[in-house]
Amino acid sequence: MMNSIDNIGVDPDSVPAKTLSTGARIPAIGLGTFGSDNYSGDEIARAVIDAASVGYRHFDCAAVYGNEHLIGPALRQVMHSGVRREDLWVTSKVWNDRHDDVVASCEQSLRDLKLDFLDLYLVHWPFPNTHAAGVDVASRDAHARPYIHDDYRKTWAQMETLVARGLVRHIGTSNMTIPKLDLLLRDASIKPAANEMELHPHFQQPALFQYLLDHEIVPIGYSPIGSPSRPARDRTPEDTVDVDDPIIVKIARRLGVHPAVVCVKWAAQRGQIPIPFSVKRPQYLATLQAIVGEPLTEEEMCEIAGTDKNNLLIKGQVFLWKENQPWEDLWDMDGEIKQ
Ligand SMILES: NC(=O)c1ccc[n+]([C@@H]2O[C@H](COP(=O)([O-])OP(=O)(O)OC[C@H]3O[C@@H](n4cnc5c(N)ncnc54)[C@H](OP(=O)(O)O)[C@@H]3O)[C@@H](O)[C@H]2O)c1
Repeated sequence: MMNSIDNIGVDPDSVPAKTLSTGARIPAIGLGTFGSDNYSGDEIARAVIDAASVGYRHFDCAAVYGNEHLIGPALRQVMHSGVRREDLWVTSKVWNDRHDDVVASCEQSLRDLKLDFLDLYLVHWPFPNTHAAGVDVASRDAHARPYIHDDYRKTWAQMETLVARGLVRHIGTSNMTIPKLDLLLRDASIKPAANEMELHPHFQQPALFQYLLDHEIVPIGYSPIGSPSRPARDRTPEDTVDVDDPIIVKIARRLGVHPAVVCVKWAAQRGQIPIPFSVKRPQYLATLQAIVGEPLTEEEMCEIAGTDKNNLLIKGQVFLWKENQPWEDLWDMDGEIKQ
């Protein structure tokens, strides 16, 4: 539904929200803020201000995106324009090289984002392995390690202190698998409120998705459009393109929208929270309108379910810890955590 300023935006009150296990409400769509090689921090900060003016209230940030110091002033401007802090939802993430230093990392993000608290703070990856920005997928961290649950528990315990200290309202995970979540749920005092993961029509992760719902963990779906503008280094010849899928294109034609909009509509209707990235007003407005507009039919939802190709795009090769190791080792494909 459009608000009174026709075609300029969406009334934020009309944007659906999802209820977390704590009872808090999180807007059912967020704006991604990772510009990769394509967009500068300044462009993204400007997009945050304008996206808020057209109705976005949820922003997905991370220390490693290198732009929180620019998004902070943007959020300040949004609040000066009259948006209340309690109506915003801001997520940030601790990067892999700060797993031993979570509190200081969170405090830095809070300073950069110019906030007193975060709505959600995530452990960005389950591995402490890192890489320089923009490196080739063949690059490896000389100190890389496999997933070590005792270490992750210590990181999670620091995450829990953030809640106790009021620095964050919710904590969550990202890029996790069922075996790793099994261990975390067994050991956590505060269970994750959300798990951020790659989710788009060609990569639906049905088992993990259902696991999260069963455990009252909200799935947040990154690369919801299939990350069509990701850099060449993140592409393989086998990758498929969601926005070119004949089913997605057919539905887009019926609705008179871009296929990207269909991907986002499907995501929200399925029950995950999409966090599409864009710095272009027509695009982020279209994706916001997607989730308040006419829903997909049941038949269309089924058709899109059938387009799944198990095509993981962000394979995470830079986090591998052995020579000549397949990227599948990061994702516990056979139910075992690889060492
Ligand atoms: N937790 C994690 O590990 C993790 C990993 C990856 C991403 N993320 C988060 O997820 C966010 C989104 O992921 P992503 O950027 O990889 O992929 P994405 O949202 O699937 O794709 C973004 C691209 O789609 C195009 N687009 C967006 N809206 C459109 C529209 N309405 N019509 C046509 N094209 C449209 C734009 O391409 P053009 O720019 O070419 O126009 C944009 O750059 C990131 O910004 C980040 O916040 C998290």
